Amino acid sequence: MSKLRVLALVREGLEPPESIGKLKTDEYLSLPWKTEFCVVDSLKNLGHQVRVLGLYDDLLSVRKVIEEFKPHIVFNLMEEFGGIALYDQNVVAYLELMGLKYTGCNPRGLMIARDKALSKKLLAYHRIRVPDFQVFRYGRRARRRKRLQFPLFVKSVVEDASLGISQASLVKDDDALRERVAFVHEHTGADAIAEEFIGGRELYVGVLGNHRLEVFPTWELLFDKKPEDQPLIATARAKWNLKYQKKWGVVSRAAERLPKTIEDLVGHRCKRIYRLLGLSGYARLDFRLDKRRLYFLEANPNPALSADEDFAKSAEAKGYDYKKLIQRLINLGLRFKPLRLS
Ligand SMILES: Nc1ncnc2c1ncn2[C@@H]1O[C@H](COP(=O)(O)OP(=O)(O)O)[C@@H](O)[C@H]1O
Ligand SMILES: [Mg+2]
Repeated sequence: MSKLRVLALVREGLEPPESIGKLKTDEYLSLPWKTEFCVVDSLKNLGHQVRVLGLYDDLLSVRKVIEEFKPHIVFNLMEEFGGIALYDQNVVAYLELMGLKYTGCNPRGLMIARDKALSKKLLAYHRIRVPDFQVFRYGRRARRRKRLQFPLFVKSVVEDASLGISQASLVKDDDALRERVAFVHEHTGADAIAEEFIGGRELYVGVLGNHRLEVFPTWELLFDKKPEDQPLIATARAKWNLKYQKKWGVVSRAAERLPKTIEDLVGHRCKRIYRLLGLSGYARLDFRLDKRRLYFLEANPNPALSADEDFAKSAEAKGYDYKKLIQRLINLGLRFKPLRLS
């Protein structure tokens, strides 16, 4: 395996330390630069020469380090630029303009996947099952199409990380819908989407590749201590609050007792969706499985990559230990060719 110069591009303030000594699991899990540490540490263990650049909005600093360090590839851990999450695609577009290789998804795939309405429209055209939905433009009052039936689930069209998602996102009448749409408008400054609420199981599937795709074993989000009658929702607290996770027994693990037909369907469906959305590198696709019907919820290109997250854990179940996974992402980045017309 050849040793490479790898530039790890991370958000300013998330530059990881050289070593973390001996931390307790809880301390480790709440480190803000957990992912950055995992990745950089693995890259070094793989024998690569690593330079870390913390970036907020200073493009000149990227240019300088590229001219000086001459990386073979950029390991892209940026999820925003200048505090704006929508600009994650522009960072990658900039790397492409500079003629650099990078890990993870291409800018077009990032843009399409981020828009929860656009991606669903595209997939619905190809007859892939998605929840029925309606978009409520920023600043307008919500007027529901008669065919869109309650219960509905209201969220931002473009935010991720469950921002603004709580039990109150689930609405059962027009008053609650109007209120929640106004809340999303106000708190995210973006359009809102109301989707048919799909009960059942929540499944996450890791996918890796540019052309030839690999699908990891299906993962499932569970609340082991949740009352039966409370709907399962990956709220912001369920995702990020360790105390809440302990209280409700929030865990994710390999999905058990999935019928073989569903396993096969998931694998096939994931590959189709990944290609239709124009993704590359790696992604995690989220689904709901209700009465043997598989609904696409969203695609997360460049999903959370720390060793304890679903993507890495499901990769491990497929035989990729963490180091091997990181090297695979590098290899895919080196091989990816952006579309060019001239
Ligand atoms: N249509 C839906 N039906 C049921 N649950 C939903 C629906 N949309 C979102 N959710 C719940 O909310 C969570 C977050 O929604 P998602 O669209 O994945 O947004 P984010 O990008 O913030 O992760 C999902 O993981 C799921 O638990
Ligand atoms: Mg999600």
